[in-house]
Amino acid sequence: MIKPEENIFSGQGAIESLHHYFASCNASKKMVFILVDENTRKYCLPFLIPQSESDRYNLSIIEIHSGEKYKSLDTVAEIWKKLTLAGADRKSVLVNLGGGVLCDLGGFAASCYNRGIETIHIPTTLLAMADASIGGKTGFDFMSYKNHIGSFHRPERVYIFTEFLKTLEVRQIKAAMAEIIKYGFISNPEIPGKLKIQDLTTFSFDALIQICINAKIEITNSDPDEQGLRKILNFGHTVGHAIESFALSHEIDILHGEAVAVGLLCELWLSVRHRNLNINILNDYIRFYSEYFAHLSYVFENADDILNRMMMDKKNSSGLLKFVLISRLGEPVWDVIVSRESVMESLVFYNALKV
Ligand SMILES: NC(=O)c1ccc[n+]([C@@H]2O[C@H](COP(=O)([O-])OP(=O)(O)OC[C@H]3O[C@@H](n4cnc5c(N)ncnc54)[C@H](O)[C@@H]3O)[C@@H](O)[C@H]2O)c1
Repeated sequence: MIKPEENIFSGQGAIESLHHYFASCNASKKMVFILVDENTRKYCLPFLIPQSESDRYNLSIIEIHSGEKYKSLDTVAEIWKKLTLAGADRKSVLVNLGGGVLCDLGGFAASCYNRGIETIHIPTTLLAMADASIGGKTGFDFMSYKNHIGSFHRPERVYIFTEFLKTLEVRQIKAAMAEIIKYGFISNPEIPGKLKIQDLTTFSFDALIQICINAKIEITNSDPDEQGLRKILNFGHTVGHAIESFALSHEIDILHGEAVAVGLLCELWLSVRHRNLNINILNDYIRFYSEYFAHLSYVFENADDILNRMMMDKKNSSGLLKFVLISRLGEPVWDVIVSRESVMESLVFYNALKV
């Protein structure tokens, strides 16, 4: 299935390739650490290395807590501590077995440990397979600002096993669909048509994951450190991250994809207003939103706070709010300066919909 680049492995032969890699690490005396959380240890680790083979490769397991609230400097420090106590050196490898949170944390920990060690992502959520494991962005939340501290550190390899999706909660699958449809808006207009799904629990996401991976590789390869084009991946995220940041600091339960889903709605509205986007695209998305996501009344009730958080967005400069907008499906524009009033109107629009 997925092989847009030689360092991404999936489908038949991927598990053998991974075991072969572990064996080669053993042979060259590289220490291999597998980062898991309580869920991926239970549901995913046994698939990767059956109990009967666990001693064969001399792997060490590092377990952290799952969830966005643990995407913190404390967790990164915990990983560094465990690596240090186990004697990890510059040749060691950190394998991240988990969702976007774990891959971001493990990737960051690896990017700094001994000034940078090799890292491998094995994404276990739909969102991490289609998006977060690709492109090398790492980091953690700081003072409740999303991914406020981070680095670029590309994984040496990425292994995609869609078998892992069988144990993932449906809420997580729905949330990931916001990141997937984002690619429909910024680069692949065929995606929205492919998201008319009867049964999420039996649907095969392989083809959609492949489309997103291909798009992300193309975008990130042409602008690795986000000087221009790569910014389009943030469509929906200026508003989305501000909502997530608000929720984080008020202990409100929200998933990253759910916040991005609201962000996409507001930023499509801004695209209609400022880039003459055809209103039918917004209307189609409203239908998609109402099928998979609930209305979040606290967003408008806290609009000022959320707008203030948008000012911390990494794409802004000189105190101006800069957005990625689209003028047509697959035609994004970045660095569009939008006034606070306009963004507020988009939140008013979202609130009035009550979808
Ligand atoms: N680096 C990037 O380019 C990038 C891109 C998009 C999003 N992100 C980040 O990704 C994060 C969101 O990632 P996510 O949606 O994967 O959430 P997540 O990492 O929090 O994982 C969701 C939950 O599912 C559990 N889980 C993981 N795999 C499972 C499985 N196979 N079966 C059962 N449970 C499983 C996890 O333990 C966790 O509780 C956000 O922090 C976001 O900022 C990063």
